[in-house]
This record gives sequence, C-alpha cells and structure tokens, in this order.
Amino acid sequence: MLKGLILSGGKGTRLRPITYTSAKQLIPIANKPVLFYGIEALVECGIKEIGIVVGHTKDEVMESAGDGSKWGVRFTYIYQPEPLGLAHAVMISEDFIKDSPFVMYLGDNLILGGIKSLVEEFKRSNANSFILLAKVKDPRQFGVAELKNGKVIRLEEKPREPKSDLALVGVYIFDKNIFKAVKEIKPSWRNELEITDAIQWLVSHGYDVRPHIVKGWWKDTGKLEDLLEANRMVLDSFEVEVVNKGKIDSSSDVQFKVLIEEEAEIKNSIIRGPAIIGKRTKVINSYIGPFTSVHDDVLIENCEIEHSIILSGSRILNIPGRITDSLIGKNVSITSTEEKSPKAHKFLLGDHSKVVIK
Ligand code: TTP
Repeated sequence: MLKGLILSGGKGTRLRPITYTSAKQLIPIANKPVLFYGIEALVECGIKEIGIVVGHTKDEVMESAGDGSKWGVRFTYIYQPEPLGLAHAVMISEDFIKDSPFVMYLGDNLILGGIKSLVEEFKRSNANSFILLAKVKDPRQFGVAELKNGKVIRLEEKPREPKSDLALVGVYIFDKNIFKAVKEIKPSWRNELEITDAIQWLVSHGYDVRPHIVKGWWKDTGKLEDLLEANRMVLDSFEVEVVNKGKIDSSSDVQFKVLIEEEAEIKNSIIRGPAIIGKRTKVINSYIGPFTSVHDDVLIENCEIEHSIILSGSRILNIPGRITDSLIGKNVSITSTEEKSPKAHKFLLGDHSKVVIK
C-alpha cells in the first residue's frame, strides 16, 4: 500500500519575517494553505496513510491540518527537531513508512494538475523510484537530472554547466531502498542530508530510478515572487465569474473571477478579479485589483491593492498610492496620516507588524 510523506518542517529563511512566527506551508494561496493543496494531491491518488514531518512550527501545522479526518485519511506527525535536510526527514520517517513504497511531497510545493499520472506510472512499473521533473529556463538554480534511455543516470545540485534543462520538482516516489541510501550518504557543505545525494546513491548502486516530466504548472512557493505567482495561477484557474456569498452594495463594481466569502462586505469599491475576499472581511472605498487574495476578518478602507496576499485580521487604512506585489502577515496594521499621492508600496510584513506612512 502506497503511503504519503509530506515535509512541513524546514527553516523558511527565504520568507522571513513571516516564517519567524508562522509556518510557510500554512501561507494561503487563494485563501487555502499551500500544505492543503499537497494533502489533496495525495488524497486524490487514493493514499490513506500520510506522515507529516514537522519542525518548530509543529503546533500550528497540527492545529490547522488536524488528524486527516477532514480528508477521510489518517495523519501521523513526525517531529524533526532540527531541519537537517530532506533526506534526514526521510530517515526519521522509517518507523512510519516501514516497507511501503511512498510518495514524498514537499509541503511548500504546488502542482496544479496533481500527481495522479506520476503515481499511476509508478504502479505500472517495477521501478525503485520515480522523480518528478520539469523543464526550466535556468536549471542552474535547481537540482538537475541527466537521463539516458528513459532512466535517470545522474543528478547534480545547482550545476554551473547543467547537462539538461530538467529540474527536480518537489515530489518523489521511493521504495524501501531509500532508507539504505539516506543512511549511507554524508551531510553536504550546508550540513544537510541532501535528497539528491540519496537518489544519486540509488542510481550508483544499480537501482532503477525513472523520470516523470510534469506537463502542467508547478511552483515551489519558498520565496515571495513564487508565492505571488502561485496565487496568481490558482486565482486565474477559477472557473467562476462572480460568486457572492457576502454583501456588495449598489455603488460597488465587482467583475471577473471574484469570490466573495460569507459575511464579507464590499462598500463603494471596485474589485477586478481574479480575486478572493475572505469571510467577514470589509472592503470600503477601495480598489482591489487582479491576483489578490484577502483572507478572513480583514479591514481595507481607502486603499488600492493588487497582486498581493493579505493574511487574516489585518487592517489597511488610508494608504496613499497603490500596494502591489506584497505579502502582509496576520494582524498587521498599516495606516497613513497622508492625503493620497501616486506612489506604490511593496511590503513583506510579518505577523503583527505596524506600519505608518507619513
Ligand atoms: P526548503 O524550502 O528547501 O528549505 P527550508 O524550508 O529550510 O527553506 P529556506 O531554504 O528558505 O530556508 O524545504 C522544502 C520543504 O521541505 C519545505 O516544505 C520544508 C521541508 N523541510 C523539512 O521538512 N525538513 C528539512 O530538514 C528541510 C531542509 C526542509
């Protein structure tokens, strides 16, 4: 029986300051935590037993994802006291995985078309491992795979002269031989047990590692630009025009792929989708532009915001100019004492930040 393993620990240094107080895997994309997209991808493949590796943000992750019953599956949480690498996360999960083959899914990754075809291909094969690959423009920033006759023959981490344009995407399928590999390899220069080294060990020891190339869209949401792009892609995939579960007054104009959640209120405002406005959020005398996700219990008054993600409980009031390309944490307050002027603001604000524009 195929099991699942989702990695939801890590340091998240590239998303500081948000990750000082919160798990990056819980950052919402179109108002749903990134992690839940991964869970759903595994559930869709018929996987019933899912291990979730958690680190210093374990309480928050456990509270948010629960015991799996929301999805009709069972979660087992596996605590990793220090983020010592993806292969280390595999090593500490052996008691949970036992002899089963398993899909390993990086909890901050998003693959729009799911992973069903990868899992089906693995089931039909007698391979030891499958790795998910995508063609990328600049392979030098990724783990890169070299292929021959439909098999993986070499892996290289961030190569200066890449042998292919196929980068490793954050989903892998392994059988129990991976546990031998992760025990044999040594930590890298950054003192992590690298999954690329473990896979390379499998290849070098004659195990059958095969590629599966992603056709659709995928994103590693570990940094701001990618997170905003993931948000853009998911909002854009909405097939609805306007769904209004809240209240829109007669002086507002709401158009194109917009979801207004329960008890949200739109007053004298323009909303140009794709966008989502969370529960009990109030948008007053404002403009919300395309590719914006506003979470629950937010107050936006006299502002212009586009291409941004606003987390729950924040208040953004009377900001001159436009807020764009921003990620604003939970319970943040941004206010202004100024009249409106044509400027733009770009923020990456952690939870409970306070900003006053003068
Ligand atoms: P990364 O994004 O590669 O690492 P990171 O979370 O430490 O972030 P940064 O590079 O910004 O410091 O991790 C990929 C996924 O795997 C992510 O969901 C976190 C998770 N992870 C673990 O669970 N344990 C680990 O030891 C590591 C390194 C990552």
